[in-house]
Amino acid sequence: VVCSLKPAASSSLSLAESAASESLSRIESLSQISGVLGSQWGDEGKGKLVDILAEHFDIVARCQGGANAGHTIYNSEGKKFALHLVPSGILNEETLCVIGNGVVVHLPGLFKEIDGLEANGVCCKGRILVSDRAHLLFDFHQEVDGLREAELNKSFIGTTRRGIGPCYSSKMNRNGIRVSDLRHMDTFPQKLHNLLSDANSRFPDFNYTPEMLREEVENYKRYAERLEPFIADTVHVMNESIANKKKILVEGGQATMLDIDFGTYPFVTSLSPSAGGICTGLGIAPRVLGDLIGVVKAYTSRVGSGPFPTEILGQGGDILRFAGQEFGTTTGRPRRCGWLDIVALKFCCQINGFSSLNLTKLDVLSDLPEIKLGVAYKQDDGTPVQSFPADLQLLEQLKVEYEVLPGWLSDISSIRNYSELPKAARQYVERIEELVGVPIHYIGIGPGRDALIFK
Ligand code: GTP
Repeated sequence: VVCSLKPAASSSLSLAESAASESLSRIESLSQISGVLGSQWGDEGKGKLVDILAEHFDIVARCQGGANAGHTIYNSEGKKFALHLVPSGILNEETLCVIGNGVVVHLPGLFKEIDGLEANGVCCKGRILVSDRAHLLFDFHQEVDGLREAELNKSFIGTTRRGIGPCYSSKMNRNGIRVSDLRHMDTFPQKLHNLLSDANSRFPDFNYTPEMLREEVENYKRYAERLEPFIADTVHVMNESIANKKKILVEGGQATMLDIDFGTYPFVTSLSPSAGGICTGLGIAPRVLGDLIGVVKAYTSRVGSGPFPTEILGQGGDILRFAGQEFGTTTGRPRRCGWLDIVALKFCCQINGFSSLNLTKLDVLSDLPEIKLGVAYKQDDGTPVQSFPADLQLLEQLKVEYEVLPGWLSDISSIRNYSELPKAARQYVERIEELVGVPIHYIGIGPGRDALIFK
């Protein structure tokens, strides 16, 4: 693994050794509080970078979302772990994993993940902290998610149906139930009854029975006991850790174009996966944030409905879809695919203030004779659109102006030094940097943990 090599002292370093040494010093020079955030519509491949960086940080924290995010990571023996709620630092024994106040926690799902990790010898006790302010996501939230999508019929949002939106709705309605409520089992049944009755009055097909309440209360009595050692005032832990100079990596889920404020509303997630969400989701001050790395695929994919200006419609998208294996991990649904959208990426860079980018899946473009970059938007009458618009109708109608760059038509997956990439691949990378004004420091050229070029 390139990044785990120690810096070599010798002056006669091989090209591979000097690349390893450069990559290590690049990781070690990241700020005390750094973050990895998605800068398209999700599935950019954030997991790999988080996994590589995690071992160099004392704490890895999740600040937003729930089990709708998912990272696949591998331990040193190559064993695969699919994580949804547990932060990716869990495989490194020294790392503390924090599930912040902004996360919505489905306890049966969390325990299933913990059981899977412990069955494979990964110790979780004392290494995972769950915020006492985090909201609980119940099974009924998942059911309601499906009912709402069915109700929307053809204008469905395309959610993961994991109950994330309904749980954030309960939070905003101020009748949600938080982790700290599990410490008061005397009042818990009434709170849960209020929530379930609310869902019952809103969705005629939601069948709330007293039996359902009884069963769920019994389940949660057991969960409360099991969760107790994991519960913490994570706001205090985070701020003490910052004062004690601990290094903290924030692991983002989803992406800015799915942000409740900045995404293609209403085809978005119910939270803030962009930089602002780090502060509200962990209870830390904006001034402590340091390097934020935006993860961007060398092309674009999107699941679910909503505008996608650079989409390649029809079978044209198949080449990216198959080469990039763009099929939903749980549903197997084909993802919509298209060219890299520079207008959307610039918008994400502005909102998040990325210090650098990780361009992923560059290898997927290797068989294309030419590659397009969506560089500007124009209205029908030719009027330029200055920034990524809020207006969905405008987004559906606008014309995208493309720049066409030559492809490199060769396998780049075993290259580890930037200078060894074919000229056309370097041209593509450098043109993106020039257009968005943010340096690309990491380039993914394969799914493997070592398939990363440090630029
Ligand atoms: P969400 O948090 O759900 O948005 O997903 P994510 O951004 O964490 O994506 P994930 O890490 O699950 O990566 C998606 C897939 O892309 C995984 O199967 C990765 O192995 C794969 N992947 C990541 N980087 C590269 C790359 O550079 N090249 C190729 N070919 N595959 C990659």
